[in-house]
Amino acid sequence: MGISIGMVGLGQFGRGFVNLFKAHPMVDRIAFCDMEPDRIKKWADDPFMKHKFQAKDAYSTLDEICKSDLDALVIITQPQLHAPQCIQAMKSGKHVFSAVPIIYLPDGNEMLEWCDKMIATVKSTGQRYMLGETSYYVPEAMFLRRKQKEGAFGRFISAVDEYSHDYSGAHGCSLRKVQLSRDASQAGIASIKIMRQKYFSQGILYGPMHYPTHSMVGPVSIMNAHALKVSAIGTKPTGYDDYFEMSGGGFSNETAFFHMSNGAVFSAREYREVTGESGGNSIYGTCGTWRNGKWLWTKREYNTTVDQIPAHGVEEPTAAEMRDPLPRDVQKAFILAQDQSLTAEKVENMDFTPHGHGGSHPYLVHEFVSAVVENRMPTINAWEAARYMAMGIMAHESVLKDGELLKVPDWGDAPGQ
Ligand SMILES: NC(=O)c1ccc[n+]([C@@H]2O[C@H](COP(=O)([O-])OP(=O)(O)OC[C@H]3O[C@@H](n4cnc5c(N)ncnc54)[C@H](O)[C@@H]3O)[C@@H](O)[C@H]2O)c1
Repeated sequence: MGISIGMVGLGQFGRGFVNLFKAHPMVDRIAFCDMEPDRIKKWADDPFMKHKFQAKDAYSTLDEICKSDLDALVIITQPQLHAPQCIQAMKSGKHVFSAVPIIYLPDGNEMLEWCDKMIATVKSTGQRYMLGETSYYVPEAMFLRRKQKEGAFGRFISAVDEYSHDYSGAHGCSLRKVQLSRDASQAGIASIKIMRQKYFSQGILYGPMHYPTHSMVGPVSIMNAHALKVSAIGTKPTGYDDYFEMSGGGFSNETAFFHMSNGAVFSAREYREVTGESGGNSIYGTCGTWRNGKWLWTKREYNTTVDQIPAHGVEEPTAAEMRDPLPRDVQKAFILAQDQSLTAEKVENMDFTPHGHGGSHPYLVHEFVSAVVENRMPTINAWEAARYMAMGIMAHESVLKDGELLKVPDWGDAPGQ
């Protein structure tokens, strides 16, 4: 028997997950929740939803859907709302998948407190919580985690990771437009009012390291290490646009340098006012290095002569080669979800190419549904997610203290990991 799932937040990002959750073979029933009625209607009227959606499963508030008998909620609301909503959902007996980050607020101490509360709630309720960090399931992250498990990196030396998303949209998606759209809905208007009163008017300064998950997840999950200390430097907005004033001023770009628990160092960049949009990492090890989309390896053995060069090589795997496999029945369901004009017969022999943020969306959906069905800890659980958050929060704190070296708190590994 499968599970029932409620989609909470059907805005720009949430809509990209509906067909996948609905199509997953282990999902029997789907529900919709958004404060904007037209966003529910779109899905309620969609013929693809028909045999898993009933009219009673349309909800206009989180409070309402929390009273339902659904097994799990997928919360893809504005980033400043996540933590309290996820905690409310878990306390009402639901497993939770949340969009990133755990929470996004100007006050770092408050964000750390929410991380604490999130872990405490997972412990006290026994519900499953997963953070939907897309970069965890990009092809190179899957490939490099396999390399780490094989011990192919040798000793880790360092890592570099970056998430650059310019507000202007000159070389990609406009963050300014995204923000305006998030602030325009009923939930957005209400929460931006609170943000202005509670933080911006008090002079509490935001920085992009408070939305750190995209640049932290790769090195942390691949090296299987967390940060011990951080020093970071920020740059102030140039002032050409009121984008940063709209979101409380502060810093537009932040660069951090972490001392990791495995002895490696990690440099992270979170940039919001920069030419070019980019993401991705380089990871350096004594026996294996990932750089510019290539895997370079050296077999270190005891050399008997001066000119004996150890065995070595370079691999440039394709995205398909780097990805972990998904079960075939799940692949077939997702092929149909991506193109509903196909027949089941046609799908039978088709290859599956995952889409959505580097092909990560189908993996996130499958991991969350499987973790709930199998009653196990999801990959990006609350403890793992809190690591990404604490790193960014302390990096921003260091920026505010002009690069002071600060300790990064850690909640340890998830139980049983
Ligand atoms: N690569 C990534 O991981 C990635 C990419 C884009 C967005 N995101 C995250 O996805 C989230 C959503 O972003 P978006 O652009 O879709 O925002 P959005 O504003 O378009 O959508 C949010 C929706 O949530 C609804 N909502 C909020 N509170 C509600 C409540 N209490 N009850 C019912 N509905 C409620 C709003 O009405 C709105 O429709 C953000 O947290 C963002 O950080 C992640």
